[in-house]
Amino acid sequence: MQLIITESTNDFHREAAAIVSRQVMQKPDSLLGLATGDTTVGIYEWMIRYHQELGIDYSQCKTCNLDEYVGVAAEDPRSCCYRINEGLLDHINIKKENTYVPSGIYDPPEKELAVFEETIERFGGIDLMVLGIGQNGHIAFNEPGSSFDSTFSLVPISQSTIKAKAGLFGGEDKVPHLGISMGIRDIMKSRVILMVASGISKREVTEKILNGPVTEDVPASVVKLHPHVMFLVDRAALG
Ligand code: GLP
Repeated sequence: MQLIITESTNDFHREAAAIVSRQVMQKPDSLLGLATGDTTVGIYEWMIRYHQELGIDYSQCKTCNLDEYVGVAAEDPRSCCYRINEGLLDHINIKKENTYVPSGIYDPPEKELAVFEETIERFGGIDLMVLGIGQNGHIAFNEPGSSFDSTFSLVPISQSTIKAKAGLFGGEDKVPHLGISMGIRDIMKSRVILMVASGISKREVTEKILNGPVTEDVPASVVKLHPHVMFLVDRAALG
C-alpha cells in the first residue's frame, strides 16, 4: 500500500483529482468506481476544474457508484445518485448512459444485482476505485463484521453510520436502515484502489488501517491485501 500524505485538505482534494485525471488520460475508456459522501465533494470539484481547464476528456469514460440508500429515490437530493450527478457527472463530458448508480428503489433486489453484474461486465471491470471510508472503517455499506467475501447485496446500515449521516438526512430517525451496496469482493476486484481519508473524524480509523491488523472488524483494512492501493490522507486524518 502506497501512503500519500498532503499537508492541507485542498491539496488532498487536488491530489486525488490528479490521480483520477492521470488514469483517464492513460486509459480514456476507463471505468471509474465512485464513492459519495463529504470526503469526495472537494475531489470531484477539482476533477471538474481539471476537465474545464486542462481538457481532461471523459467522453469515453464510464462510472459505477458503490452504493445507494434503500428507499431513497434517485431524484432525492440525499441519494447517492443525485449527489454524484450534481457534484460531478453533470459537469463533465461523460455520457449518462455510461454511468451507473445502484437503484435504491428496487423490486425485487435480485433484479438490481443482475443489472449491477451486467453493467460491470459490459463496462469491462473497474480500473480505478475511488474509495471513501466511514468513521467505523466501513467501505461502501460494508459495516464492521462484514465478510471479505461479500458481494453486491442489500446490507444493514449500522447505528454508528446512521449517527454519522444524521446531518445529511435531517435526524438519525430519518436515515435509512438498509443500503444496497457493492460487496468487499467486488471492491477488491478493482485494478487500482485510491482510498481517501480526510479530517479529524477519520483519525482513529486511519491509525487502525495503518498500524492495525487486517480484520473484518475494520473492513477498510482489507485493502492492505490488494496489490495496487494508494491511501491518500491529509494531515488532519493522520494526526
Ligand atoms: C457512506 C458511503 C460510503 C462513503 C462513506 C464515507 O456511508 N456509503 O461510500 O465512502 O459514507 O462518507 P464521508 O466521506 O461523508 O465520511
